[in-house]
Amino acid sequence: MKRIVILISGRGSNLKAILQSTKNGTLNTEVAAVISNQKNAQGLDIAKEFGVNAISFDHKDFESRQTFDHQLIATIDELKPDLVVLAGFMRLLTDEFVEHFEGKLINIHPSLLPSFPGLKTHEQALAKGVKWHGATVHFVSKEMDEGPIIVQGVVPVLPGDTPELLADRVLEIEHQIYVQAIKWYLDDQIRLEKGIVSVIPTAPQFFAINEKS
Ligand code: GRF
Repeated sequence: MKRIVILISGRGSNLKAILQSTKNGTLNTEVAAVISNQKNAQGLDIAKEFGVNAISFDHKDFESRQTFDHQLIATIDELKPDLVVLAGFMRLLTDEFVEHFEGKLINIHPSLLPSFPGLKTHEQALAKGVKWHGATVHFVSKEMDEGPIIVQGVVPVLPGDTPELLADRVLEIEHQIYVQAIKWYLDDQIRLEKGIVSVIPTAPQFFAINEKS
């Protein structure tokens, strides 16, 4: 059975969606560990509730970004994962880390990339007045919030939306698209050619809210 490692920094709602899908058989994988760079991340408790190995290293205990990433690489390598999943991991990774796991490192970003990279994406979307917003699962490349797009989920932006209301709507679709992307990966359905991801057999690589995977 293929193995995944999930990296988090906080709340862990995407983590929970992934672990629930593992438990109910949607995802056929062993979660080898959940690793957090925040010792008090709520997601660590979620991992424990699901009986998953929960590891934390506080990046503040390390001299530099490099030494932290070296420790992270060594820990992940020992777990021998087929896929490394960033699920709200709020830390920039070194080029060395990204190169080491290239092709098996994926992230979820709360916007329809390439629109609104970086932080405060819901605020950015409201400030621009876009009418559709959403989330993107992508392979991680050295440039932040770039990298080949695996799947996107769209939600409407409604009159009266606040960043919080919009974030909740986007989160619902995040949970669906992240599970779907991981499933395709585990089932060897993902093809990457010239920076473009396709799925074999062909399947829609976009979701709209309320559509289930
Ligand atoms: C999500 O919005 C994700 O897209 C972003 O960070 C947030 C993490 O939320 N990268 P959670 O910890 O999964 O609840």
